[in-house]
Amino acid sequence: MALYAIGDLHLSLTANKSMEVFGPAWEKYTSRIEDSLGRLTAADTLILAGDTSWGIDLSEAEADFRFLDRFPCRKLLIKGNHDYWWSTVSKMKAFFEERGFTTLDFLHNNCAFYGDYALCGTRGWFLEEDQKPHNAKVLNREVGRLETSLKAAEGCPILCFLHYPPLYQGYECPEILAVLEKYAVVQCCYGHLHGPAIRRRLEGMRGKTEFSLISADYLGFIPKKICE
Ligand SMILES: [Fe+2]
Ligand SMILES: [Fe+2]
Repeated sequence: MALYAIGDLHLSLTANKSMEVFGPAWEKYTSRIEDSLGRLTAADTLILAGDTSWGIDLSEAEADFRFLDRFPCRKLLIKGNHDYWWSTVSKMKAFFEERGFTTLDFLHNNCAFYGDYALCGTRGWFLEEDQKPHNAKVLNREVGRLETSLKAAEGCPILCFLHYPPLYQGYECPEILAVLEKYAVVQCCYGHLHGPAIRRRLEGMRGKTEFSLISADYLGFIPKKICE
């Protein structure tokens, strides 16, 4: 029994947006994901840290969810910037229930528990978002979602999963970092960085929190083991 995490599977079984066009790092990525998830068991928990499917809505993402649901581990999804299929949690859960998908759930304005740990998460914030209109409003909403999730931990040690990196060479999001510090988050894993951007990642300890990049191409499509 173990806890694993990976972001950015970018599955595209229906959407016809295969990531293989991005070169050797993504070659045969769906079968590589199949191999690595096939090694997890029903006792394992897997965090999927956003950009899970290219589907533009739930029906276009259905084949990707069916693919994921075949692996018996419990999966907790957070929202990435490319998860256009994302709807309200109640609609997404109803969709999974109708289709008979039993292993998929969400980290969104809530937390889940794994052993003594609370698992928290949200999409987060990154420099690309700074350039969009209404950025302050959206940033405040994301910080609020993160804090709602962290509060739900009720004093348990916290492992936090974000889609966007809260820090990067030449960038940091002080509002998100302050909330991680306030709740003494033990570990913060994030995705979103691909290809050449991976070189600019910042990992390791900062304050009391250990940061790690878990985007799928960085991990070679093998989920990172977080703890037993
Ligand atoms: Fe991504
Ligand atoms: Fe992303």
